[in-house]
This record gives sequence, structure tokens and C-alpha cells, in this order.
Amino acid sequence: MPSFHDLTLTNIHKSTRNAVVLTLKSADPAQFKFKQGQYLTFRRDFNGVELRRSYSISAGRSEGILQVGIKQVDGGTFSTWANTDLAVGDVMQAMPPMGSFSTKLEANAQKTYLAFAGGSGITPIISTLKTILATEPNSQFTLIYANQNVNSIMFREELEDLKNTYLSRLTLIHILERDSQNIDLFTGRIDAEKCDLLFKHWVNITSVDTVFICGPEPMMHAIDASLKTHGLTKDQIKFELFTAPQQGRAAQPAKHQNTALPDGTQTTITLDGATRSFTIAQNQSLLEAGLANKIDIPFSCKAGVCLSCRCKVLKGEVEMIANHALEDYEVEKGYILSCQSYPLTAELMVDYDQ
Ligand code: FES
Repeated sequence: MPSFHDLTLTNIHKSTRNAVVLTLKSADPAQFKFKQGQYLTFRRDFNGVELRRSYSISAGRSEGILQVGIKQVDGGTFSTWANTDLAVGDVMQAMPPMGSFSTKLEANAQKTYLAFAGGSGITPIISTLKTILATEPNSQFTLIYANQNVNSIMFREELEDLKNTYLSRLTLIHILERDSQNIDLFTGRIDAEKCDLLFKHWVNITSVDTVFICGPEPMMHAIDASLKTHGLTKDQIKFELFTAPQQGRAAQPAKHQNTALPDGTQTTITLDGATRSFTIAQNQSLLEAGLANKIDIPFSCKAGVCLSCRCKVLKGEVEMIANHALEDYEVEKGYILSCQSYPLTAELMVDYDQ
């Protein structure tokens, strides 16, 4: 089970007016070895209330550094603190890297990658882009990056530098909602119509092996639908949905109403090698019940997005009301997200250590 570790802030770079890139150092670097596209979950106490937030790693794997990008969101306590109060030398607490927003790297691969990023959704994408270009010298990468205007483009200079470094292998297209550009197609929002035109004039979609998408949810769904219309399969499309809880939207859907278990569910969990038992009351999620019983179940988003609360069902059954993080094969093997899981049986046994 992942636990929190101290990370020392060694550099703060203002990427845009309201976004910072933090460079962090661990006393135990092996714990923070990461794959491209992964994220860190941070925790901090704000006036007696612990907040946990996940932010994607923006560094490439071969860079030898640990960096995350944090965009300040309206009313976002953690992101505002990170953007305004942090100073070099401060210590932050984070869990080791998590997430599966990546594909296998192969030095001999000759693949064509396409990525769509919206706003701060660039953070895991730039990690992926840098890693792939450095690791697969025969692969091509096209990034379509949507922003409101030029000033809101995170990593703008770094992307330009990468374009110059990988002139023949990296194609960079900025789509700006408010600023007009030389080419009309590059102004506006990314929707189905924009995708059609991009695929007609700029991207040979039939040659694309894998697509990465990270950004606002409506944009991601529009792109996903368009890609499928243009013949791509589900396996070729990788999603990273992480913005919802960060923007203060409802952390959890309406409570599940399970009237069939008036006495609740007798639950046994294994966590860090220890076994504990408690009862999950009606309309309580596994995570809620565990925390109410003072069990330190890992969590961050409470919205089925971050994967922190993943565990495996060994006995019994649950209804998982949302899942934006587990792959189909994991669900088939019995993995669930505790924050989204409500028991359907009188007995439940789960394991967080598998
Ligand atoms: Fe993030 Fe459950 S806490 S998926």
C-alpha cells in the first residue's frame, strides 16, 4: 500500500501567470521512479482539514528529475497555495507515482503517436512526448494542444525547444480559442467538426497507432467519439481524466441506496499486511466506512479518477458506481475503487496489498 513521503522543493518555475512547475527531490529516489504519464498524490493540512490532490508528472523519464505542473484553479485551496505560497526548500508530502496513462516503450518501434491536450492536461502528455521521442528514435509524435490564448499555454518555451530538437519527428499544433492564428482551423475549440478537419488536412489518422487524450471531459469525449468514427479502436485510445475533482466539482455522485442490507456488510480488509474488520452501513462506500473506522485507506480524488483507493475483492460483491481509472482487465480480475464501491452482499473481503 503506498504511503506518504517527504519531497523537498528544489525549484519553482512559473510556466504561465497561474501555473507553476515544481521540481522535487526525494531522499529515497527509488520510491519515486516513475513511468511517463503518471502522477503524484500530495496531502497537506489546511486549518485542520487534510486535502489530497493529484498532479501529473511533467518530466520525461530520461531527464533524471521529478517535476509536476500545477495550474491554479478558481477556489482551489491546494492549487492556490502551490502557486502562491510555496518556496524553494519547502517540504511537501506525496505518495509514490501512480497511474497507467502510458504505453510500453520499445527502442526499435516505428510508431505514430497522436496526443490531444487541453489546458493543464498537457502535464502528463509532455512527460509522454519527451519520453517517447527520447526512447523510440524512429517514432513520430503529433501534439494538438488546446488553450484559450497564447498566454495560457503551459510549457510553451519547452515545447518550442522540443520542436527544434525533434524537427522531423514532432509536429506541434496549437488550437487557441480566443486568439486568431494564421490558419483559421487552428482557432476555436476542439470538437467533432474540428477533428474532422484536422484529420482531413493535417493528421493522417489512418497511420496513427496510439492516441493520448488529457483535458476537460467534454473535449475528451468529443475527440474519443471522433477517433472511433475515423476507425480507431478503444485499445488505441488512452485517456487521463484528472481535472474533475481538482476543479471542485462534486466529489461523488448521489449515494447508492441499498435497502437489501439493513444490518450493513461485515467487511474484512487487508492493508499493509494487517487485517481489520468493520461494518459498512447502508449507503456507505467502502472508503467512507474504512475512514470512519480510523483505517488509513489511501485515497485522493474520491471521484473514481485517481486510482489511489484501488483494492481487490476476495469475497462478496460490490457495485462500483463510477470508474474512470481501472482498465477492463483489472475489473475482470476483481479490482475495485473503494471510493465508488457499495456492497451488494452481507459479507465482503478485500485486499489492498495485491
Ligand atoms: Fe481517487 Fe478513489 S480516491 S479513485
